[in-house]
Amino acid sequence: MTVISTEAAQSALDPLELRRCLGSFVTGVTVMTVLNADGKAEGITANSFSSLSLDPPLIVWSLRLSSRSFNTFKNAGRFAVNILAQDQVNISNLFAVSGVDRFDGVAYTLGLGGVPLIDGCASYLECNLEASYPGGDHVLFVGRVERIHMHDRKSLAYGGGGYLSVQPHES
Ligand SMILES: Cc1cc2nc3c(=O)[nH]c(=O)nc-3n(C[C@H](O)[C@H](O)[C@H](O)COP(=O)(O)O)c2cc1C
Repeated sequence: MTVISTEAAQSALDPLELRRCLGSFVTGVTVMTVLNADGKAEGITANSFSSLSLDPPLIVWSLRLSSRSFNTFKNAGRFAVNILAQDQVNISNLFAVSGVDRFDGVAYTLGLGGVPLIDGCASYLECNLEASYPGGDHVLFVGRVERIHMHDRKSLAYGGGGYLSVQPHES
């Protein structure tokens, strides 16, 4: 086991090892959706989503500064968290590809403020953008949850660089 703990040792961090280590943390998968200034839908696959606060109801996620959707999320007053269901690997992959119309052929309904809610997800959180904070090569977006929808569908999971199916633990 490699233990790197001192500040001086930070420069020794191998970016690939760091990525692998962070990837060992299993998460769900979301698509964050938003409307741009022209009223066009944009969306991006994100697994950095986390709950932040129950009272007030806040969630957080991080977006790469270099993302084409960065300005849209920074300037839009609201966005939606689409928590993907187990059978939505294709949606996750689609919304992680650059240079395609990600909503082409994707069924969705319009939520608060016309923000798209992708059909078939496990659950949804419709949010107002509460705050954003710098975070290295990413920005943290904090959303205040305005409305939620839940469905009886298993969630998709992601870990170790691949998609996972969630099973109840045997214990
Ligand atoms: C499972 C998965 C999770 C991802 N999570 C994030 C994330 O939390 N934040 C982020 O900025 N990019 C994340 N990405 C990468 C973006 O989806 C991808 O870089 C982006 O869609 C590229 O297009 P863009 O340049 O239009 O943003 C993730 C990709 C996958 C497949």
